[in-house]
Amino acid sequence: MTAPILIFDSGVGGLSVVGALRMHLPGAALAYVCDNAALPYGTKPDAWLVARIVTVCRAAVMASGARALVVACNTASTLALHALRECLTVPVIGTVPAIKPAARVSRSGVFGLLATSATVSRPYTQRLIGEFAPQCTVIRLAADPLVAQAERVLSGAPWDDVVIAASLAPLWDAPRLDTVVLGCTHFPLLREALERNAPRAITWIDSGDAIARRVAQLVAPEACASASDASWASAPQQSGLVRVLSGYGFSAPHALSLPDDCSDSV
Ligand code: SIN
Repeated sequence: MTAPILIFDSGVGGLSVVGALRMHLPGAALAYVCDNAALPYGTKPDAWLVARIVTVCRAAVMASGARALVVACNTASTLALHALRECLTVPVIGTVPAIKPAARVSRSGVFGLLATSATVSRPYTQRLIGEFAPQCTVIRLAADPLVAQAERVLSGAPWDDVVIAASLAPLWDAPRLDTVVLGCTHFPLLREALERNAPRAITWIDSGDAIARRVAQLVAPEACASASDASWASAPQQSGLVRVLSGYGFSAPHALSLPDDCSDSV
């Protein structure tokens, strides 16, 4: 069997990227690791997170024999891509907020960036805005409670409309805002809830498709040919510490042992 492409996230958000990967690379073996012991990442200190992400990803790449790592988490990518590329020999593909497409698509030039508090305040994000949307007004909104909402929805529970409405409300103060970047991979899993709570038509943009195209170019051109499989949306079980998921169409080892110092709480 071919070595899998390993998708990494703090929780189930990376499944929104898996959906896009399955569309673009239907024949590719995928493995998924979520660090739900440390979820959410968006509120953790940077230095702790870099060490944690590097330790988990190294162990997961080794355990799965992955041929590439997709960091399907904006909070992790805007912080730790460089450190990961330094220590891994496989290609590392990151996920960063889709500022460039939003600047292209927005007619008014006013768009929102909905992400974790870490992602909205990172220098990496500031650089993206400066480079790709200097002429736009970008409303950055931290929406950490939406991470837990997405986890709930994927475990089969309903979302909480009060939380969704309160998280989005500051965006609607900008009357010309017409586009929102979903800068956290958890948020596309809440797309229906977000659309229902918007007071007007909004273009929602996430990075899933762009990442899948990049992965296809880099590591798996041969997998692009076969039929598509949309079974990714099943919710994985969310118990235990760091887990490499098996089942749900993933080919993966069943357990991941981490060095002792990796389970320290913050
Ligand atoms: C989180 O764990 O806080 C969400 C991660 C993300 O930015 O995708």
